[in-house]
Amino acid sequence: MQYLIGVDIGTSGTKAVLFDVVGNTVADELIEYPLYQPKNGWAEQDPEDWWKATVDAIRSIVAKAGAKKDEVLGIGLSGQMHGLVMLDEADRVIRRSIIWCDQRTAAEASDITNLVGADKLIEITANPALTGFTAAKIMWVKKNEPENFARCKKIMLPKDYIRYRLTGEFATEVSDASGMQLLDVPGRKWSPYVCDKLGIDISLLGRVYESAEVTGKLTPAVAEMTGLSTSVVVVGGAGDQAASAVGNGIVREGIVSATIGTSGVVFAHTDTPQIDPKGRVHTLCHAVPGAWHIMGVTQGAGLSFKWLRDNFFTDVQNTAALLSQNANKVLDDICSSVPAGANSLIYLPYLMGERTPHLDSDARGVFFGLSAMHGRADMLRAVMEGVTFSLLDCMNIIRELGTSPDFVFASGGGGNSKLWRQMMADAFGVRVAQNSSREGGALGVAILAGVGAGVYESVRGAAESLIHETTSISPIAENCDKYSRVYPLYNKLYSDLKDSYKALAQL
Ligand code: XUL
Repeated sequence: MQYLIGVDIGTSGTKAVLFDVVGNTVADELIEYPLYQPKNGWAEQDPEDWWKATVDAIRSIVAKAGAKKDEVLGIGLSGQMHGLVMLDEADRVIRRSIIWCDQRTAAEASDITNLVGADKLIEITANPALTGFTAAKIMWVKKNEPENFARCKKIMLPKDYIRYRLTGEFATEVSDASGMQLLDVPGRKWSPYVCDKLGIDISLLGRVYESAEVTGKLTPAVAEMTGLSTSVVVVGGAGDQAASAVGNGIVREGIVSATIGTSGVVFAHTDTPQIDPKGRVHTLCHAVPGAWHIMGVTQGAGLSFKWLRDNFFTDVQNTAALLSQNANKVLDDICSSVPAGANSLIYLPYLMGERTPHLDSDARGVFFGLSAMHGRADMLRAVMEGVTFSLLDCMNIIRELGTSPDFVFASGGGGNSKLWRQMMADAFGVRVAQNSSREGGALGVAILAGVGAGVYESVRGAAESLIHETTSISPIAENCDKYSRVYPLYNKLYSDLKDSYKALAQL
């Protein structure tokens, strides 16, 4: 047998999956680790936790499958994006990683805009200054921890730290590097101009590869630890969004996915770099060579659902557990008892601020229109619809930029809910499909590893032959009509509240 490994270094844990070369999952392992929140809005992780989880997860899947050393050909790494890892001259981690959802950098994002210039920044990095992107985190350390910045000899992203330990190669690849705000995104290389303006020495950054290129091989020590051979290639891999896009078959112009994970993402493949001059969606290099993607990100998608479920439906969860039922499926049934429009209850999903279309870290969640007639089932429906409207916000900008898909692929945990897929079909006005792949990011980077190892000829060819559509849901006219009347009001609420959010943040 021949195998490929995809490793997804996520926020709640690291998942390693062993695939055969036709994309079947042979073994998988998830190892979780903590998220540190030393202050409100701060989010940090220990890179050592990612490393231990990666080694243990790889060792476990190799053992579970009984794979022989020379049967594993390549490893692809998918990673939570934007996180800052800093190493000193002895390659020691200087401080815990400040990760993607950390919100401490509003001042630094505005410093970046002033230093580079708003238009120039969008022209080169394809995005406005974003608090979540790595450059703002580097600037924060520079300003607030100058002694740490002075010791820093290497700057890398989470999955690239894992690559460094697996192979000894200091490298990254275009899709994840796009989320640092230091890359010339149209040119697919570091921008000396931006680095210079921000006072970040470009030699602190690793070599940039395309996602399917081989960046190195396992060191003898790692091969020994994991039960693999030193001929296993490690390819560039991808940021988690580009990785799951490849694993969901989003590898051709006009194909769009909507993913409901902790955050919600609408992702479109483009053959040219399409930049939103208003900076409402992100433009990044895709993991498909020579392609780009645009994506709208809503911060609190699955997060909103989980928040409501864990605060208001613990009894449902306990009963489901006793009866060995899937609690989310039971919640779908409860939600289905409420008509589209949630009896005029509207939810804004801004529990963790928002990125698309309102770049506003002060925005917060809202239930609008609560009346004495409403119960928790209405709130559940309103939450799922509010998240769907937020994804519609993203979709509308993608349409405005010229991509109007005939259908959308749903993925992520929320994409498994038939009801949520129906809501998306009704809100977007197009059919919503699912495909055969359940491993998303891990499969995406295993495909990249297969290209690097010479198993597949191209990323697009492999994705299209391994991934197929399995289910499809069409819009229901009556619900489309309802949503077309609710959505404008949903949309107006943010503008009405914008100043009040600022005031709330000052309290
Ligand atoms: C993308 C983003 C998330 C993180 C965590 O811009 O912030 O996808 O990578 O999953």
